[in-house]
Amino acid sequence: MSTSLRFSMGFTVHWSWLATLSCLLCMGGEVRCNCTETNMQIEGGHYRLTKHLRAGSMLVYNCPEGYYPYPAMTRLCQPNGRWRPAPKRFSPQRCRLVECPDPSVLEYGNVSPPQEKYYVDNETTYECYSGYTMRGSSSRVCLPSGKWSGSTPICSRDSGDHCADPGIPAGASRTGNMFGIDDTVRYSCNGNLILVGSNERVCQENGQWSGNEPACYYKHTYDTSLEVSEEFGSAIKSSLTTLEPVGDIQEGRTIRVTKNGTLNIYIAVDISESIDEKHINHSKDAITTLITKISSFNVNPNYEILFFSSELYPVINIMDFWDKQVVLKDVTNGVRDFIVGDKNTGTNLNLVFKTFEERMGLIKRRVGEEAFKEHRHVIIVFTDGAYNMGGSPAYAVKRIKDMVYDVNDPSREEYLDIYIFAIGEDIFDDDLKPLTAGEDGKHYFRMKDISNLQETFDDIIDEEDVKGLCGLHKDYDTGTKESKKKRYPWVVFIIVQKDGVSKKCLGSLVSPDFVLTAAHCFPFGTLPEHITVEIDDGQGRVKKVKMFKIHDRYNVTAKVHEKVKEFYDYDVALVQLEKPVEISAAARPICIPCTKETSQALKLGGASTCEQQEKLLLKNHLESLSFLTRTSNFIDEKTVQAKLGDNRGECIRHALAAEGVETDNPEVAVTENFLCTGGRNPHRDHIACKGDSGGAVFKNYEQRTIQVALVSWGNKDLCKSASGLVESDDTSRDFHINLFKFVPFLKLVLGDDNQDYAPLEFLES
Ligand SMILES: *[C@@H]1O[C@H](CO)[C@@H](O)[C@H](O)[C@H]1NC(C)=O
Ligand SMILES: *[C@@H]1O[C@H](CO)[C@@H](O)[C@H](O)[C@H]1NC(C)=O
Ligand SMILES: *[C@@H]1O[C@H](CO)[C@@H](O)[C@H](O)[C@H]1NC(C)=O
Ligand SMILES: *[C@@H]1O[C@H](CO)[C@@H](O)[C@H](O)[C@H]1NC(C)=O
Ligand SMILES: *[C@@H]1O[C@H](CO)[C@@H](O)[C@H](O)[C@H]1NC(C)=O
Repeated sequence: MSTSLRFSMGFTVHWSWLATLSCLLCMGGEVRCNCTETNMQIEGGHYRLTKHLRAGSMLVYNCPEGYYPYPAMTRLCQPNGRWRPAPKRFSPQRCRLVECPDPSVLEYGNVSPPQEKYYVDNETTYECYSGYTMRGSSSRVCLPSGKWSGSTPICSRDSGDHCADPGIPAGASRTGNMFGIDDTVRYSCNGNLILVGSNERVCQENGQWSGNEPACYYKHTYDTSLEVSEEFGSAIKSSLTTLEPVGDIQEGRTIRVTKNGTLNIYIAVDISESIDEKHINHSKDAITTLITKISSFNVNPNYEILFFSSELYPVINIMDFWDKQVVLKDVTNGVRDFIVGDKNTGTNLNLVFKTFEERMGLIKRRVGEEAFKEHRHVIIVFTDGAYNMGGSPAYAVKRIKDMVYDVNDPSREEYLDIYIFAIGEDIFDDDLKPLTAGEDGKHYFRMKDISNLQETFDDIIDEEDVKGLCGLHKDYDTGTKESKKKRYPWVVFIIVQKDGVSKKCLGSLVSPDFVLTAAHCFPFGTLPEHITVEIDDGQGRVKKVKMFKIHDRYNVTAKVHEKVKEFYDYDVALVQLEKPVEISAAARPICIPCTKETSQALKLGGASTCEQQEKLLLKNHLESLSFLTRTSNFIDEKTVQAKLGDNRGECIRHALAAEGVETDNPEVAVTENFLCTGGRNPHRDHIACKGDSGGAVFKNYEQRTIQVALVSWGNKDLCKSASGLVESDDTSRDFHINLFKFVPFLKLVLGDDNQDYAPLEFLES
């Protein structure tokens, strides 16, 4: 203490002296002192404290993009009032420019400009000596993530080798210059860089190198969420699916998972002090997204989920899946509702792996040796690896591998994947990297910022393979137009311009070629050229219409003689686009009643019926549904409750109050073909506006959206403009066309397999 007094000055001396004094005063029992902020400032950046200056608090440095904190990333306040690591007097804390690994490892070529060190935004170009040809990027830029853009440049001569020269990644050295079958090359990283990926690759018979190209990481290098989504996405998908196109319609249109056996997924999230609460929240979101995404692959894994620090906080025990005590909803709710209490400083990663090992042992005993061979295991751990108790998890990981692997059968390795998501400000790579299992380079992710992880996991499904899946959507809504497009990728805007009058409706994409909407959107005499459909599929927002088909029995004047001036039964139409929509995350069909795909979405299995679907979607006497309305905010969701069963009579009675309805029997105007919503009891529903007409009335079932009805008419106009989030009053009601009553019409057009578009497959009954 005396040294620091002598070297410090003025106010600082006074301050630390006071702190020392109060520290002495609390002697006697256990001494807990606060840390001080003296000498903690960082040049060019700032820091924050997780628990003020109390013992156990973490000081986290922050630097602008393109810079990283040096020499420390974080410091932890010890019970004795000192920071660990302690600030170094001769190496003041500052923000340093991000550096990329040395690219001058290129063989048979030149790198320019030659530099001792390469910093963010520095550009390099690569040229091969004469007689050599280049593969990879001929120019690269040093990125803020500490990686070079593009791919490793390689100069090689056609030497007739079995495998192509695998090159040398920036910052690495390679031993092995023979590229024939079974030849091995080995990599290491220069200086104190960390090697991520395969450190050894073998030239295989198929002419490819085994494993993945390694990369050299600095302590400040991180993976962007795009990189993670590509790598983790392709890796986890191979655990989830064997993709087999079914039917002979269009290759890859429909996907069915046909992998044998059971999938067990074990997830652990580090909540010790060294992990910021923000990161924990993000990992919770990410896990729920991941679990729901996985369910959209039509697989039903068993889950073990726990949070951990020095002890475990179990959320879901995998054994409960055998006793059928839990369903998917319990899992996601369990994660979402988990509250991080007062955190302990310790981290016991070994306990986590030992617990997973134990569970696997239990499963094995339960199902028997043979059946256990059909079980695949995926372990996913979020941690910074700063374990300080319980010892190394390496042995538990080894025992887990022994349990699944078989020395005589390398294909057994497919049955175990261990993914590590290294999170937090200060990552202990050397301890964590060896804990992964599975294909090299796709199981260890170093993430600076996991706030995007939810989107990352979401993007896993944003691939060709799931193109045809109806109703698949993204859950997060950041309020931006882009996020809404992905939440409601099926919504289309319809504009009918005729005789100088323009009429707006909504519709829903029900296949790449067809839009479903209300018949009343098309006044008598409308031609296809009067109609435009807007949906942004990246191929131009405004779509032309080839033809449209209104239900044969739609006739507004059909019940004039029964004292209903305007009759809207059969208010349904299908619009065929001139060109099919390009399917993507932002433009994808919604599921409609009684198709096979909808049964899959509802997890009803192969032999399901239309009636089963209806029972699942419209089962309660009050069924919560939604529809959309245009707002200044692009589009917003209106929520309503369909009044079914005993509630229906009272609801449709209000039709009698509509203008032009003079009958005293509401069922004349509102036939069995309508659903009724609105009113304020028991919940205040939203009410439809004119511009909402034709839009889908839908319900989400896990990750899929199913349209059950479409907006047709209402008894009152409470809206001042054509759209908007307007709430119902006591007597206003809306009547929506119930699609379950219109399956023959839908099937006639959409299920027609003699046309130039891909038909939807409808259920037999
Ligand atoms: C430590 O700081 C807290 C406020 O952060 C204060 O309440 C407490 O009294 C301090 N303890 C000591 C020993 O100075
Ligand atoms: C590389 O980046 C550093 C730091 O920004 C800069 O000083 C230097 O001029 C750059 N070199 C080249 C060749 O652009
Ligand atoms: C996988 O399942 C199919 C039928 O479902 C069966 O024919 C096949 O033998 C199974 N494969 C293994 C390895 O059990
Ligand atoms: C994390 O989530 C909890 C519960 O949702 C919330 O109370 C807390 O403020 C969040 N913390 C941070 C740092 O976002
Ligand atoms: C509509 O219904 C009315 C009354 O039944 C009938 O006179 C008329 O012909 C119908 N219109 C069409 C186009 O079928």
